[in-house]
Amino acid sequence: MTLEEIQHSDSIRAARWTQSEQQLVFSEVLGLTLTEQILSAESPIAHSKVEQVLDIAQRSIAGEPLAYILGVTYFDGLKLAIDSKVLIPRPDTETLVEAASELISNGNIQSVHDLCSGSGAVALAIKARHPRCVVTASDLSEYAVRCTTQNATALQLDVECARADLFEGLLEFELITVNPPYIAWDDPEVDADVVAHEPAMALFSDHNGLSLIQRILRDAPNHLSKGGLLCLEHGYSQAHDVRKLAIDIGWRSVQTLQDLAGRDRVTRMQKP
Ligand SMILES: C[S@@+](CC[C@H](N)C(=O)[O-])C[C@H]1O[C@@H](n2cnc3c(N)ncnc32)[C@H](O)[C@@H]1O
Repeated sequence: MTLEEIQHSDSIRAARWTQSEQQLVFSEVLGLTLTEQILSAESPIAHSKVEQVLDIAQRSIAGEPLAYILGVTYFDGLKLAIDSKVLIPRPDTETLVEAASELISNGNIQSVHDLCSGSGAVALAIKARHPRCVVTASDLSEYAVRCTTQNATALQLDVECARADLFEGLLEFELITVNPPYIAWDDPEVDADVVAHEPAMALFSDHNGLSLIQRILRDAPNHLSKGGLLCLEHGYSQAHDVRKLAIDIGWRSVQTLQDLAGRDRVTRMQKP
């Protein structure tokens, strides 16, 4: 079979991959760059490779996320290794990176800590954009700590990651970023494939999804220097609750930002 024939096969059509997902599969399995995929569209592909692509398509059709099947994903232009013990970073979370990046550029910020780091997506994207910043990370999951550390090494980005329950053992920073688990356990909108494949501790939180957010808003001031800033990702319907909680605690300059789809996604604020 040629690449073109694979692309038009029933299995690949049924997988309903986006163009970039399809390119990622071909580049990971066949080792072909996008240009090579175009130039060699009519060249025959080894039978074993064809079988591999079709097997990936079958698993994808069954609902397994492509990032877990391939063991890689892209976030903010960085290639990250990923496995099913950590959350797959979402494009929406680039809003958190953008929000933090703007504060770093405008505020001469030198130290950033990313809580709940997962694969390291946020911490590594910030370090890649702002190499002079000291960026550290932490997560309660030992798998996430290992994943962040391995991705930092592979990308040659100097980001250390520690295992911690939120702020446990952490010092003081100028900026804290966090994308915590914030989905309510009974949220009917959550995709069944997400629940089936992604780790529950990365997704769900008690009290309507706000339990960890409440702890973060309460404890973050103790780990921020004078005038320090917090950038917090949350669900699009939680912005009002987050702002109210933050204002009640005394946080200043509380401002919600929208993601690429125009939904409330990140609230940033200054230490009370
Ligand atoms: C929504 S994921 C975010 C991962 C990554 N920052 C991203 O945006 O792709 C939430 C992360 O919080 C971690 N986590 C859950 N409870 C925690 C806690 N009490 N303290 C620290 N991390 C926690 C999970 O292990 C998971 O990696």
